[in-house]
Amino acid sequence: MSELAERAAKADANDPLAAKRDLFDLDDGVIYLDGNSLGALPRHVPARVADVLTRQWGRMRIRGWTEEGWWDAPQRIGDRIAPLVGAAPGHVVVGDSTSVNIFRAVVSALRMTPGRGEILVDATTFPTDGYVAASAARLTGATIRPVEPKNVPDEVGDDTAVVLLNHVDYRSGRLHDMGALTAAAHAAGARVIWDLSHSAGALPVDLLQHNVDFAVGCTYKYLNGGPGAPAFFAVRPDLLPVLDQPLGGWCSHREPFAMDPEYVAAEGIAKARAGTPEIVSLLTLDASLDVWDDVDLAQLRAKSLALTEFFVDCARELAPAARSVTPAGEDRGSQVSLSCVDAEKVMAELIARGVVGDHRPPDLLRFGFTPLYTRFADALRAAEILGEILA
Ligand SMILES: Cc1ncc(COP(=O)(O)O)c(C=O)c1O
Repeated sequence: MSELAERAAKADANDPLAAKRDLFDLDDGVIYLDGNSLGALPRHVPARVADVLTRQWGRMRIRGWTEEGWWDAPQRIGDRIAPLVGAAPGHVVVGDSTSVNIFRAVVSALRMTPGRGEILVDATTFPTDGYVAASAARLTGATIRPVEPKNVPDEVGDDTAVVLLNHVDYRSGRLHDMGALTAAAHAAGARVIWDLSHSAGALPVDLLQHNVDFAVGCTYKYLNGGPGAPAFFAVRPDLLPVLDQPLGGWCSHREPFAMDPEYVAAEGIAKARAGTPEIVSLLTLDASLDVWDDVDLAQLRAKSLALTEFFVDCARELAPAARSVTPAGEDRGSQVSLSCVDAEKVMAELIARGVVGDHRPPDLLRFGFTPLYTRFADALRAAEILGEILA
């Protein structure tokens, strides 16, 4: 057995999360390293969704809103996500897409910082954040300026209303320092919004400890909520009473069924809702979240760091033509990005040979390592196949 194979066997044998893999519907012929785009299906979810469709919708029909708890699902499921992102219960709500929640957070932050007119946006952001922030700027008369996350302490100033950052860079996998960057924004009097799409479910996040004003994120990646699963929106507890979000609709009204022509915001996190919640998607996500019930996030992080480091070691030895652009150690999320020539073709060949990652132009092969279901043996096999292709 090679030294790398020995390391993989030992790490898999000692993995405290190994049993979690069985909870997922994965085929042994495929090495799935794309859970950072779409998480895998937990096995118990289809039966739960079938119940939502056939019994809840089919038999209960309109009574589902009250008797099946549909109406409160956005807050109830938010409370299940709260411990995964270190938020307070009652301060996370689920609904709409991440893009919509970014708009909600940016405009809310602008309304909390009267007299300030600048939005700083992560220069390396996933595009939707930048597009939505630019639109919010156009609508409100604010200006927008791209800034490298590490330069936020130097760039944030008296006119900065809000700083919008990605916790983990979707291309490189770099993890940004939430505590330091939030503190720098606050020291200048600005609000901060973190996009947790690539960190929620991938590593421990502590919104409360870092005093984060707003956070948003996808639930279809490391939270395995299913394609198009609704996003979450979290707000700092002391800001909730003054939250004035721009998409208040009848579902965030204090008395939705009073059909009041005047809008009066609900108390509590329900005020961050808008319209009718996506019940089928929400309850699919709700079922998926069961896999987190007994997960120790410190163990999750330890495994993620060990897996990604092991994959980098394997790639260095077996596929030297590809170069890691992902930082080492604590500065990375749960993905590894390798740069190589003809990356798009190489990824197509990897997928054809059963190693599913993705390609980000121009030169990146992106591999997500979902700690709940990826094995060290998978990391080794993926690097072997990559090496064969590049050779
Ligand atoms: C950092 C980040 N934000 C947002 C999104 C997507 O937003 P939406 O759920 O609105 O499609 C992604 C999708 O990959 C992402 O990586």
